[in-house]
Amino acid sequence: MNWLRVLKGRIRPREKMNKHTTFKIGGPARFFIEPKDIEELKMLLKCIKRYNIPFLVIGRGSNILVGDKGVDTVVLKLSSPVFRKISLNNNHLKVGCAATLNQVISVAQKKGLGGLEFLAGIPGTLGGALVMNAGAWSKNIGELIEEVRVMDGNGRIKKLSKEQIKFAYRKSNLEKYIILSAILKLVKTDKSKIKEKVSGYLEKRKSTQDLSRPSAGCIFKNPKGISAGRLIDLCNLKGTGIGGARISLKHANFILNEKNATAEDVLKLMSLIKKKVKSKFNISLKPEIKIWQ
Ligand code: EPU
Repeated sequence: MNWLRVLKGRIRPREKMNKHTTFKIGGPARFFIEPKDIEELKMLLKCIKRYNIPFLVIGRGSNILVGDKGVDTVVLKLSSPVFRKISLNNNHLKVGCAATLNQVISVAQKKGLGGLEFLAGIPGTLGGALVMNAGAWSKNIGELIEEVRVMDGNGRIKKLSKEQIKFAYRKSNLEKYIILSAILKLVKTDKSKIKEKVSGYLEKRKSTQDLSRPSAGCIFKNPKGISAGRLIDLCNLKGTGIGGARISLKHANFILNEKNATAEDVLKLMSLIKKKVKSKFNISLKPEIKIWQ
């Protein structure tokens, strides 16, 4: 294939996905590709379409469990500098999809722009956060969005206004696109106030969530009106382990990769949790993490 030659150096066949997920779990992707710019991404999508190859997009891999056998797809990671740019226009921050939330918060803080503080400590990229409408402390990133620039499967670039984007609890209608960048509307705020808020949220996160081992954050979505972590805790499952995976003692909706856990270990633990919660509360928990296998 021609594109394999063009992309020499930026394409890795059978790349182990455990190197690209915060869980540090996952077998190989058929091809792992990091296009250098928008033109290359466009060309790639054309080829992918022509050869009918399935593809997935990864950000920081902080909400994904990749199966032990890996994925027979192309995995695209937009990691090059053009996808990481952050620029300012009045109170609007234009952010590339590959910028991490913590980088965005830090730039906003330096410019005296507030509104993003609640996202402090969430380990993802802007692109990943938008697709799943990441949030914490009853706020979601979708609330700050003015516009999102995306590419569709045919390589066409579109601008979606906030009215065209549907954000709901941990989901959006952006999944069918490749997110390129977004414009966030922030509020002029005293820099020291921002700093104080960020520290407060980080402290809160540290005291309630388990950051001691690799994980993918919360595993299950919260059912309406109740915390999945609370339900799992009430089933006395904290500390339960299968293979190298264990339910955190600090927050029951966290599964930790304690010792070379396999995806199979995590999936078995998830299924045990679902069974116990269903039988005790008659509630069916739904995964928050994306499972690629
Ligand atoms: N709780 C327990 N036992 C536990 C965990 C929690 O009793 O093991 C109780 C807490 O004491 C508290 C209540 O459940 O009374 C809620 O707990 P917490 O504040 O930790 O929030 P959560 O509902 O478990 C959600 C999000 C988190 C987000 C926090 C903070 C989901 C699935 N989880 O957790 O998001 O950081 O609120 O806003 O929506 C993530 O999406 O990966 C994630 C970690």
